[in-house]
Amino acid sequence: MSERSVVPWKKRIAVYPGFFDPITNGHIDIIERGVRLFDKIIVAVLKNPKKRPLFSTKDRVAMIEEIFAHESKIEVRAFDGLLVKFAKKHKASVVIRGLRAVSDFEYEFQMALMNRKLNPEIEILFMMPSVDYSFLSSRLVKEVFSLRGCVSDLVPEVVEKGLREKLKRGKFFFSN
Ligand code: PNS
Repeated sequence: MSERSVVPWKKRIAVYPGFFDPITNGHIDIIERGVRLFDKIIVAVLKNPKKRPLFSTKDRVAMIEEIFAHESKIEVRAFDGLLVKFAKKHKASVVIRGLRAVSDFEYEFQMALMNRKLNPEIEILFMMPSVDYSFLSSRLVKEVFSLRGCVSDLVPEVVEKGLREKLKRGKFFFSN
């Protein structure tokens, strides 16, 4: 093969952004699907001072890091500011979003087109989680747990432990 025909190999990097307060099995399902398509997935955890999360940014990042400690293709980072700027800074060409149901579509469609307007070089990829998680959201997990419902099938062990801790210390609240 001549030197000129060698095309430089480019890592396929995707960002999977979210609030992850807390991460659920639905998010994990999407990340695991993404890992099959990309060389690296950056799970981007929104700091968002406007919303009052149950878990601090540090805790949300730490929980995701623990869940994917065995997976070298996954990196977890906190971010604020514009998502497309974060993606560009980390050389990602794709943003992954999960679509659970038609009800997600309108908001996601609007956000995707705004992101494209802000940076047309970044592609938005929608992925559907397993139907087992199509009803699942972080907000519902918090609500069910606060009312002493079982969430073991809906979140990983480390998240359930975190929820138990919050409840034990009287620090449990949930909001939209
Ligand atoms: O878990 P969520 O709440 O669905 O995540 C929403 C998120 C983090 C993807 C969205 O709020 C976001 O991208 N925020 C960063 C600010 C930004 O870029 N806003 C313009 C997007 S159109």
